[in-house]
Amino acid sequence: MSKFIPLSVPNLKGNELKYVTKAVEDEWVSTGGAFIDEFEQKMADYVDAIGAVACQSGTAGLHLSLMVNQIGAGDGVIVPTLTFVAAVNPVSYVKATPFFMDCDDSLCMDIDKAEQFCEEECVFSDGSLIHKETDTRIKGLIFVHVFGNIGNIEQAAAICKKYNLVLIEDATEAIGSYIEKGKKYAGTIGDMGVFSFNGNKIITTGGGGMIVSNDKALLKKAKYLSTQAKDDVLYYTHDEIGYNYRMTNIQAAIGLAQLEQLERFIAVKNENYDAYIERSVELLQFRKDIRANKWFYSYLSDHRDELITYLHDSGIQTRPIWNLIHEQRPYQKYEAYKINKAQFYWEKVVNLPCSTNLTVKDVDQVATYIKSFENR
Ligand SMILES: Cc1ncc(COP(=O)(O)O)c(C=O)c1O
Repeated sequence: MSKFIPLSVPNLKGNELKYVTKAVEDEWVSTGGAFIDEFEQKMADYVDAIGAVACQSGTAGLHLSLMVNQIGAGDGVIVPTLTFVAAVNPVSYVKATPFFMDCDDSLCMDIDKAEQFCEEECVFSDGSLIHKETDTRIKGLIFVHVFGNIGNIEQAAAICKKYNLVLIEDATEAIGSYIEKGKKYAGTIGDMGVFSFNGNKIITTGGGGMIVSNDKALLKKAKYLSTQAKDDVLYYTHDEIGYNYRMTNIQAAIGLAQLEQLERFIAVKNENYDAYIERSVELLQFRKDIRANKWFYSYLSDHRDELITYLHDSGIQTRPIWNLIHEQRPYQKYEAYKINKAQFYWEKVVNLPCSTNLTVKDVDQVATYIKSFENR
Protein backbone atom coordinates (compact mmCIF):
# COMPACT_ATOMS: atom_id res chain seq x y z
CA MET A 1 0.00 0.00 0.00
CA SER A 2 1.40 3.44 -0.94
CA LYS A 3 1.60 6.32 1.51
CA PHE A 4 -1.75 8.02 2.47
CA ILE A 5 -1.99 11.43 0.85
CA PRO A 6 -4.41 13.83 2.58
CA LEU A 7 -6.34 16.55 0.76
CA SER A 8 -5.17 19.62 2.67
CA VAL A 9 -3.48 19.60 6.07
CA PRO A 10 -1.63 22.22 8.15
CA ASN A 11 2.11 22.77 7.92
CA LEU A 12 3.46 23.93 11.28
CA LYS A 13 7.23 23.67 11.03
CA GLY A 14 8.17 27.34 11.53
CA ASN A 15 8.14 29.44 14.69
CA GLU A 16 4.68 28.26 15.81
CA LEU A 17 5.87 26.38 18.89
CA LYS A 18 8.31 29.15 19.87
CA TYR A 19 5.63 31.88 19.78
CA VAL A 20 2.95 29.74 21.47
CA THR A 21 5.47 28.87 24.19
CA LYS A 22 6.10 32.58 24.70
CA ALA A 23 2.35 33.25 25.01
CA VAL A 24 2.06 30.44 27.59
CA GLU A 25 5.17 31.52 29.52
CA ASP A 26 3.87 35.10 29.59
CA GLU A 27 0.45 33.77 30.64
CA TRP A 28 -1.25 35.81 27.92
CA VAL A 29 -3.41 33.11 26.39
CA SER A 30 -6.83 34.71 26.03
CA THR A 31 -8.41 37.50 23.95
CA GLY A 32 -5.76 40.14 24.74
CA GLY A 33 -2.02 40.19 24.20
CA ALA A 34 0.78 41.50 22.04
CA PHE A 35 0.59 38.74 19.44
CA ILE A 36 -2.97 39.77 18.50
CA ASP A 37 -2.01 43.40 17.85
CA GLU A 38 1.09 42.31 15.94
CA PHE A 39 -0.81 39.78 13.83
CA GLU A 40 -3.47 42.39 12.95
CA GLN A 41 -0.81 44.91 11.97
CA LYS A 42 1.21 42.43 9.92
CA MET A 43 -1.86 41.11 8.07
CA ALA A 44 -2.94 44.68 7.27
CA ASP A 45 0.58 45.52 6.05
CA TYR A 46 0.79 42.31 4.02
CA VAL A 47 -2.35 43.09 2.01
CA ASP A 48 -1.73 46.84 2.08
CA ALA A 49 -4.90 47.75 3.99
CA ILE A 50 -5.12 50.47 6.61
CA GLY A 51 -6.18 48.07 9.32
CA ALA A 52 -7.35 44.61 10.35
CA VAL A 53 -9.49 43.08 13.08
CA ALA A 54 -8.71 39.55 14.22
CA CYS A 55 -11.64 37.32 15.11
CA GLN A 56 -12.57 33.80 16.08
CA SER A 57 -13.34 32.56 12.57
CA GLY A 58 -13.94 33.66 9.01
CA THR A 59 -17.63 33.09 9.65
CA ALA A 60 -17.54 35.53 12.58
CA GLY A 61 -15.70 38.02 10.35
CA LEU A 62 -18.41 37.81 7.69
CA HIS A 63 -21.13 38.20 10.32
CA LEU A 64 -19.41 41.31 11.69
CA SER A 65 -18.93 42.68 8.16
CA LEU A 66 -22.65 42.53 7.46
CA MET A 67 -23.53 44.14 10.80
CA VAL A 68 -21.08 47.03 10.58
CA ASN A 69 -22.30 47.78 7.08
CA GLN A 70 -25.86 48.06 8.42
CA ILE A 71 -27.20 45.03 6.60
CA GLY A 72 -29.97 43.53 8.69
CA ALA A 73 -33.49 42.22 8.94
CA GLY A 74 -35.43 42.44 5.68
CA ASP A 75 -32.48 43.51 3.52
CA GLY A 76 -31.35 41.51 0.49
CA VAL A 77 -27.83 40.28 -0.23
CA ILE A 78 -26.57 38.89 -3.55
CA VAL A 79 -24.56 35.71 -2.90
CA PRO A 80 -23.04 32.83 -4.88
CA THR A 81 -24.58 29.37 -4.79
CA LEU A 82 -21.27 27.59 -5.48
CA THR A 83 -19.32 28.10 -2.28
CA PHE A 84 -18.98 26.89 1.29
CA VAL A 85 -22.17 27.55 3.23
CA ALA A 86 -20.31 29.74 5.76
CA ALA A 87 -20.27 32.50 3.13
CA VAL A 88 -24.07 32.67 3.21
CA ASN A 89 -25.08 31.64 6.75
CA PRO A 90 -24.14 35.08 8.16
CA VAL A 91 -26.80 36.58 5.84
CA SER A 92 -29.30 34.44 7.75
CA TYR A 93 -27.78 35.38 11.13
CA VAL A 94 -28.68 39.03 10.46
CA LYS A 95 -32.14 37.98 9.14
CA ALA A 96 -31.45 39.26 5.63
CA THR A 97 -32.52 37.48 2.43
CA PRO A 98 -29.99 35.82 0.10
CA PHE A 99 -30.38 36.02 -3.69
CA PHE A 100 -28.36 33.21 -5.26
CA MET A 101 -26.22 33.72 -8.37
CA ASP A 102 -24.44 31.41 -10.80
CA CYS A 103 -20.66 31.07 -11.24
CA ASP A 104 -18.50 31.65 -14.31
CA ASP A 105 -15.46 29.58 -15.35
CA SER A 106 -13.38 31.05 -12.54
CA LEU A 107 -15.87 29.33 -10.16
CA CYS A 108 -16.50 32.79 -8.67
CA MET A 109 -19.80 34.64 -9.13
CA ASP A 110 -20.87 35.31 -12.72
CA ILE A 111 -21.05 39.09 -12.55
CA ASP A 112 -22.60 39.50 -16.02
CA LYS A 113 -25.53 37.44 -14.80
CA ALA A 114 -25.61 39.25 -11.48
CA GLU A 115 -25.84 42.53 -13.38
CA GLN A 116 -28.60 41.10 -15.58
CA PHE A 117 -30.43 40.14 -12.38
CA CYS A 118 -30.14 43.72 -11.10
CA GLU A 119 -31.39 45.10 -14.42
CA GLU A 120 -34.22 42.67 -15.09
CA GLU A 121 -35.48 41.59 -11.69
CA CYS A 122 -34.95 44.82 -9.78
CA VAL A 123 -35.59 48.54 -10.08
CA PHE A 124 -33.09 51.17 -9.00
CA SER A 125 -34.66 54.32 -7.67
CA ASP A 126 -33.64 56.97 -5.13
CA GLY A 127 -30.32 55.19 -4.58
CA SER A 128 -31.93 51.86 -3.65
CA LEU A 129 -32.00 48.59 -5.55
CA ILE A 130 -35.40 46.97 -5.02
CA HIS A 131 -36.21 43.39 -5.98
CA LYS A 132 -39.51 43.76 -7.85
CA GLU A 133 -41.21 40.50 -6.92
CA THR A 134 -40.56 40.62 -3.16
CA ASP A 135 -40.08 44.38 -2.67
CA THR A 136 -36.81 43.60 -0.87
CA ARG A 137 -34.16 46.32 -0.77
CA ILE A 138 -30.89 44.72 -1.84
CA LYS A 139 -28.05 46.28 0.11
CA GLY A 140 -25.01 44.10 -0.42
CA LEU A 141 -23.10 41.58 -2.46
CA ILE A 142 -20.81 38.90 -1.05
CA PHE A 143 -18.13 37.97 -3.57
CA VAL A 144 -16.24 34.74 -2.77
CA HIS A 145 -12.73 34.24 -4.15
CA VAL A 146 -13.20 30.52 -4.72
CA PHE A 147 -10.12 28.32 -4.19
CA GLY A 148 -7.84 31.40 -4.27
CA ASN A 149 -8.99 32.60 -7.67
CA ILE A 150 -9.97 36.26 -7.95
CA GLY A 151 -12.80 36.14 -10.51
CA ASN A 152 -14.34 39.27 -11.94
CA ILE A 153 -14.06 41.36 -8.79
CA GLU A 154 -13.47 44.60 -10.71
CA GLN A 155 -16.86 44.30 -12.42
CA ALA A 156 -18.42 43.30 -9.10
CA ALA A 157 -17.04 46.53 -7.62
CA ALA A 158 -18.43 48.47 -10.60
CA ILE A 159 -21.97 47.10 -10.26
CA CYS A 160 -21.88 47.63 -6.49
CA LYS A 161 -21.00 51.26 -7.15
CA LYS A 162 -23.70 51.59 -9.81
CA TYR A 163 -26.42 50.13 -7.57
CA ASN A 164 -25.20 51.46 -4.24
CA LEU A 165 -24.41 48.04 -2.79
CA VAL A 166 -21.89 47.18 -0.08
CA LEU A 167 -19.23 44.84 -1.46
CA ILE A 168 -18.00 42.26 1.03
CA GLU A 169 -15.18 40.04 -0.18
CA ASP A 170 -15.09 36.56 1.23
CA ALA A 171 -11.36 36.11 0.72
CA THR A 172 -11.22 33.26 3.23
CA GLU A 173 -9.60 31.00 0.62
CA ALA A 174 -7.53 33.66 -1.12
CA ILE A 175 -4.96 34.94 1.38
CA GLY A 176 -2.07 36.23 -0.71
CA SER A 177 -3.82 36.25 -4.10
CA TYR A 178 -3.58 39.59 -5.87
CA ILE A 179 -4.27 41.29 -9.18
CA GLU A 180 -0.85 41.96 -10.74
CA LYS A 181 -1.82 45.41 -11.98
CA GLY A 182 -1.51 47.71 -8.99
CA LYS A 183 -0.86 44.67 -6.74
CA LYS A 184 -4.44 44.70 -5.43
CA TYR A 185 -4.90 41.93 -2.89
CA ALA A 186 -8.08 39.85 -2.68
CA GLY A 187 -9.97 41.25 0.29
CA THR A 188 -8.98 44.88 -0.27
CA ILE A 189 -11.01 45.74 -3.35
CA GLY A 190 -14.48 45.92 -1.79
CA ASP A 191 -15.68 47.67 1.36
CA MET A 192 -14.49 44.85 3.60
CA GLY A 193 -12.58 41.62 3.13
CA VAL A 194 -12.49 38.56 5.33
CA PHE A 195 -9.80 35.86 5.66
CA SER A 196 -10.01 32.49 7.40
CA PHE A 197 -7.29 30.61 9.27
CA ASN A 198 -9.24 27.40 9.58
CA GLY A 199 -7.10 24.22 9.60
CA ASN A 200 -7.44 23.56 5.87
CA LYS A 201 -6.56 27.10 4.74
CA ILE A 202 -3.18 28.13 3.30
CA ILE A 203 -2.15 29.48 6.70
CA THR A 204 -3.90 28.44 9.88
CA THR A 205 -4.34 29.48 13.50
CA GLY A 206 -6.26 26.30 14.28
CA GLY A 207 -9.39 28.35 13.81
CA GLY A 208 -9.61 32.08 13.28
CA GLY A 209 -10.38 34.91 10.91
CA MET A 210 -9.37 38.46 10.02
CA ILE A 211 -11.32 41.40 8.66
CA VAL A 212 -9.48 43.96 6.55
CA SER A 213 -10.71 47.29 5.26
CA ASN A 214 -9.58 50.76 4.31
CA ASP A 215 -12.38 52.33 6.34
CA LYS A 216 -11.24 53.15 9.86
CA ALA A 217 -14.74 53.63 11.24
CA LEU A 218 -15.91 50.24 9.99
CA LEU A 219 -12.88 48.52 11.50
CA LYS A 220 -13.42 50.27 14.82
CA LYS A 221 -17.05 49.19 14.87
CA ALA A 222 -16.12 45.59 13.99
CA LYS A 223 -13.63 45.45 16.85
CA TYR A 224 -16.21 46.93 19.22
CA LEU A 225 -18.92 44.42 18.29
CA SER A 226 -16.42 41.53 18.47
CA THR A 227 -15.57 42.53 22.05
CA GLN A 228 -19.11 42.31 23.49
CA ALA A 229 -19.70 45.91 22.36
CA LYS A 230 -17.46 47.15 25.12
CA ASP A 231 -15.11 50.08 24.62
CA ASP A 232 -14.61 51.49 28.07
CA VAL A 233 -11.81 49.95 30.09
CA LEU A 234 -13.40 49.88 33.52
CA TYR A 235 -17.16 50.19 33.76
CA TYR A 236 -18.60 47.61 31.38
CA THR A 237 -20.88 49.94 29.48
CA HIS A 238 -22.62 48.27 26.54
CA ASP A 239 -24.60 50.49 24.17
CA GLU A 240 -25.32 47.61 21.79
CA ILE A 241 -25.53 43.84 21.80
CA GLY A 242 -22.06 42.54 21.08
CA TYR A 243 -20.37 39.20 20.47
CA ASN A 244 -17.49 37.21 21.90
CA TYR A 245 -15.71 37.02 18.54
CA ARG A 246 -12.13 38.01 19.44
CA MET A 247 -9.13 35.89 18.50
CA THR A 248 -6.93 34.60 21.33
CA ASN A 249 -3.25 35.44 21.82
CA ILE A 250 -2.40 31.74 21.32
CA GLN A 251 -4.13 31.69 17.93
CA ALA A 252 -2.39 34.93 16.93
CA ALA A 253 0.99 33.45 17.98
CA ILE A 254 0.44 30.57 15.54
CA GLY A 255 -0.84 33.00 12.90
CA LEU A 256 2.29 35.16 13.06
CA ALA A 257 4.53 32.16 12.56
CA GLN A 258 2.35 31.02 9.65
CA LEU A 259 2.37 34.46 8.05
CA GLU A 260 6.20 34.35 8.03
CA GLN A 261 5.92 31.27 5.77
CA LEU A 262 3.04 32.37 3.55
CA GLU A 263 5.09 33.36 0.50
CA ARG A 264 6.92 30.02 0.59
CA PHE A 265 3.60 28.15 0.94
CA ILE A 266 2.23 30.00 -2.10
CA ALA A 267 5.36 29.08 -4.08
CA VAL A 268 4.87 25.40 -3.15
CA LYS A 269 1.18 25.54 -4.12
CA ASN A 270 2.16 26.96 -7.51
CA GLU A 271 4.96 24.42 -8.03
CA ASN A 272 2.70 21.47 -7.22
CA TYR A 273 -0.05 22.86 -9.47
CA ASP A 274 2.51 22.97 -12.32
CA ALA A 275 3.70 19.47 -11.42
CA TYR A 276 0.16 18.10 -11.87
CA ILE A 277 -0.12 19.82 -15.26
CA GLU A 278 3.31 18.47 -16.35
CA ARG A 279 1.97 14.99 -15.57
CA SER A 280 -1.02 15.65 -17.86
CA VAL A 281 -3.51 16.12 -15.03
CA GLU A 282 -5.58 18.97 -16.46
CA LEU A 283 -6.54 21.36 -13.68
CA LEU A 284 -8.97 24.24 -13.82
CA GLN A 285 -7.02 27.42 -14.57
CA PHE A 286 -6.70 30.52 -12.46
CA ARG A 287 -7.12 34.03 -13.82
CA LYS A 288 -4.06 34.85 -15.94
CA ASP A 289 -3.35 38.39 -14.75
CA ILE A 290 -3.19 37.53 -11.06
CA ARG A 291 -0.75 36.00 -8.64
CA ALA A 292 -3.00 33.24 -7.29
CA ASN A 293 -2.32 31.44 -4.03
CA LYS A 294 -3.70 28.30 -5.80
CA TRP A 295 -5.20 27.12 -2.53
CA PHE A 296 -7.23 24.24 -4.05
CA TYR A 297 -6.72 22.36 -7.32
CA SER A 298 -9.79 21.33 -9.35
CA TYR A 299 -9.79 18.37 -11.69
CA LEU A 300 -12.87 17.79 -13.89
CA SER A 301 -14.16 14.26 -14.29
CA ASP A 302 -17.28 12.82 -15.91
CA HIS A 303 -17.11 10.09 -13.26
CA ARG A 304 -16.67 12.22 -10.16
CA ASP A 305 -17.89 9.85 -7.47
CA GLU A 306 -16.25 6.74 -8.95
CA LEU A 307 -12.94 8.63 -9.19
CA ILE A 308 -13.19 9.83 -5.59
CA THR A 309 -13.88 6.26 -4.40
CA TYR A 310 -11.09 4.84 -6.57
CA LEU A 311 -8.57 7.34 -5.19
CA HIS A 312 -9.82 6.82 -1.65
CA ASP A 313 -9.24 3.08 -2.00
CA SER A 314 -5.73 3.91 -3.23
CA GLY A 315 -4.95 6.00 -0.13
CA ILE A 316 -5.57 9.39 -1.75
CA GLN A 317 -8.01 11.82 -0.16
CA THR A 318 -10.03 14.01 -2.53
CA ARG A 319 -13.46 15.60 -2.42
CA PRO A 320 -16.23 16.93 -4.63
CA ILE A 321 -17.01 20.63 -4.65
CA TRP A 322 -19.72 21.80 -2.22
CA ASN A 323 -23.37 20.97 -2.80
CA LEU A 324 -25.05 24.07 -4.23
CA ILE A 325 -26.37 26.25 -1.44
CA HIS A 326 -29.70 27.17 -3.06
CA GLU A 327 -30.55 23.47 -3.07
CA GLN A 328 -29.80 22.97 0.62
CA ARG A 329 -32.86 22.70 2.88
CA PRO A 330 -32.58 26.06 4.71
CA TYR A 331 -32.15 27.93 1.43
CA GLN A 332 -34.57 26.29 -1.01
CA LYS A 333 -37.21 29.00 -0.53
CA TYR A 334 -35.00 31.81 -1.85
CA GLU A 335 -34.55 33.06 -5.41
CA ALA A 336 -31.78 31.40 -7.43
CA TYR A 337 -31.17 33.29 -10.67
CA LYS A 338 -30.51 31.24 -13.83
CA ILE A 339 -28.16 28.73 -12.20
CA ASN A 340 -26.41 26.73 -14.88
CA LYS A 341 -22.61 26.64 -14.77
CA ALA A 342 -22.58 26.00 -11.04
CA GLN A 343 -24.52 22.80 -11.72
CA PHE A 344 -21.99 21.80 -14.42
CA TYR A 345 -19.00 22.32 -12.13
CA TRP A 346 -20.79 20.70 -9.18
CA GLU A 347 -21.16 17.52 -11.23
CA LYS A 348 -17.51 17.39 -12.31
CA VAL A 349 -15.07 19.00 -9.88
CA VAL A 350 -12.79 16.76 -7.85
CA ASN A 351 -10.39 18.60 -5.54
CA LEU A 352 -6.98 16.93 -5.48
CA PRO A 353 -4.38 16.85 -2.69
CA CYS A 354 -2.83 20.30 -2.34
CA SER A 355 -1.20 20.58 1.11
CA THR A 356 1.86 22.79 1.33
CA ASN A 357 3.89 19.77 2.46
CA LEU A 358 2.83 17.73 -0.60
CA THR A 359 5.93 16.52 -2.46
CA VAL A 360 6.46 16.05 -6.19
CA LYS A 361 6.63 12.30 -5.43
CA ASP A 362 3.10 12.57 -3.95
CA VAL A 363 1.92 14.42 -7.07
CA ASP A 364 3.43 11.58 -9.14
CA GLN A 365 1.45 9.05 -7.15
CA VAL A 366 -1.85 10.95 -7.50
CA ALA A 367 -1.28 11.50 -11.24
CA THR A 368 -0.49 7.81 -11.78
CA TYR A 369 -3.72 6.71 -10.08
CA ILE A 370 -5.81 9.28 -11.97
CA LYS A 371 -4.37 8.04 -15.26
CA SER A 372 -4.95 4.41 -14.39
CA PHE A 373 -8.57 5.31 -13.49
CA GLU A 374 -9.15 7.21 -16.73
CA ASN A 375 -7.60 4.34 -18.81
CA ARG A 376 -9.40 1.55 -16.94
C1 LIG B 1 -15.73 30.38 1.15
C2 LIG B 1 -15.65 30.28 2.65
N1 LIG B 1 -16.35 31.16 3.37
C3 LIG B 1 -16.29 31.15 4.72
C4 LIG B 1 -15.51 30.23 5.40
C5 LIG B 1 -15.57 30.24 6.87
O1 LIG B 1 -14.35 30.37 7.51
P1 LIG B 1 -14.18 29.76 8.98
O2 LIG B 1 -14.11 28.27 8.85
O3 LIG B 1 -12.90 30.36 9.46
O4 LIG B 1 -15.36 30.19 9.78
C6 LIG B 1 -14.75 29.30 4.66
C7 LIG B 1 -13.87 28.30 5.27
O5 LIG B 1 -14.03 27.61 6.17
C8 LIG B 1 -14.85 29.30 3.25
O6 LIG B 1 -14.17 28.41 2.52
